Amino acid sequence: MFARTALRTLRPQARLFSSSAPARTKVAVLGAGGGIGQPLSLLLKVEPLVTQLSLYDIRGAPGVAADVGHIDTASTVRGYTADQLDQALDGAKVVVIPAGVPRKPGMTRDDLFNTNASIVRDLAQAVARVAPEAHLLIISNPVNSTVPIVAETLSKAGVFDPRRLFGVTTLDVVRAARFLSEISGQDPTATPVTVVGGHSGVTIVPLLSQSNFGKSVTGEGWSKLVHRIQYGGDEVVAAKDGAGSATLSMAYAATVFTNALLRALAGEEGVVLPTFVKSPLYESEGVDFFSSNVELGPEGVKKIFPIGQVSEEEQKLIEACLPELKKNIEKGKAFVSA
Ligand code: NAD
Ligand code: LMR
Repeated sequence: MFARTALRTLRPQARLFSSSAPARTKVAVLGAGGGIGQPLSLLLKVEPLVTQLSLYDIRGAPGVAADVGHIDTASTVRGYTADQLDQALDGAKVVVIPAGVPRKPGMTRDDLFNTNASIVRDLAQAVARVAPEAHLLIISNPVNSTVPIVAETLSKAGVFDPRRLFGVTTLDVVRAARFLSEISGQDPTATPVTVVGGHSGVTIVPLLSQSNFGKSVTGEGWSKLVHRIQYGGDEVVAAKDGAGSATLSMAYAATVFTNALLRALAGEEGVVLPTFVKSPLYESEGVDFFSSNVELGPEGVKKIFPIGQVSEEEQKLIEACLPELKKNIEKGKAFVSA
C-alpha cells in the first residue's frame, strides 16, 4: 500500500506490522477544503488504518467529503460546515491541522503569523474541549510558532500532553531524500536524510553526514544541497507564482506521518521519524521545541533521540538554527499569554 512504501523511504529499517488495526480510528482534518486539505483527504481515504474520516473547514468540506466518500475503501467519510467543529472533532483519535493561509512570493512563513496564530489557537481550544486525548498534527505555518501556540492553549485548558503534539516536518525529510537522490543517482528510498531543528529557512538542519550517500557530498555541492533543503518551500512558492505554496507534496508528507503515527498507536514497534515536539534536547538554551528523530508508540511520543554525531559544518547550522527557533517559539508562547 502507498503509505507503507512511503514510510520505508523514511525509515527502511521500520518493521511492517502484522496485527490488525484498531476497530475505530477516527481521523479529523481541519482545513479539509484547502490546497493541502483536499489531496490529504484523498490520501487518508485510501489509508487502511483510518476507519472514519471527518472533514472540517469553514468552507467546502461537505463537497470534499461527498467526493472522496465515493472511493471504494472501507472507511466512512463525513464533511462538516463552519458551525459544526465540535461534531467534527467528537471521538477523533488523530486531528490533522492544515487550516490557515499559505505564503505568496516575497513572504516568509513568519509573515503568516498574524493570520494563522488565531486560527490555530481557536482550533486547539475546540480540541481541548471536545477531543482532549487526540493526537494533534500541526501543518499550519509558521510551524515553529504554531506548535508552541497549540501547546500553550492546551496547557491553559489543563489538557496538554507533550506526547500527543507534533509539528509535521516530514516534507523537509521527503525533500532531503529526493534532492540527495538527484545528486547520487540512487532511488530516494536509498537516500534517507535525518532533518532536525524546525521548519523554516535556517532552522531546517539536514544531517547529511549521517547519510550513506550524503556524507560524500562536500564543499560547494554540500552548501547548495543544504540551501535547497532549507529553502525548498520557496521553490514551490515561486513556481506557483502567487497561487500558494506546496500542497500536493505536503499532503503526501502528512500522509506518511499520519500512517507512521497510526501504526505506532496500533502497537507497531520501531517507528522512528523526525518531528517537531516538546523536547529536552536544547531546553537549557531556551529552545523547548525541537525536531529530531522520535520513536512513536501507543501513547504518541515514546522516545526522543539526540541528534547524534554531526560534522563541524552541521554544528554551525545548529548554532544558526537555535536563536531563530528560540525567537519563533517565544513569539508563539507570547501570543497565547497576551
Ligand atoms: P489553503 O488556503 O489552500 O487552504 C487553507 C484552508 O484552511 C482553506 O480551505 C480555509 O478555508 C481553511 N481555514 C481557514 N481558517 C479556518 C478555520 N478557522 N477552521 C478551519 N479551516 C480554516 O492553504 P494550504 O496551501 O492548504 O496551506 C495551509 C497551511 O499549511 C498554510 O499555513 C501553509 O503555510 C502550511 N503549509 C505547511 C507545510 C509544512 O511543511 N508544515 C507545508 C505546506 C504548507
Ligand atoms: C513548505 O515548506 O513548502 C511549506 O512550509 C510552505 C511554505 O510556505 O513554503
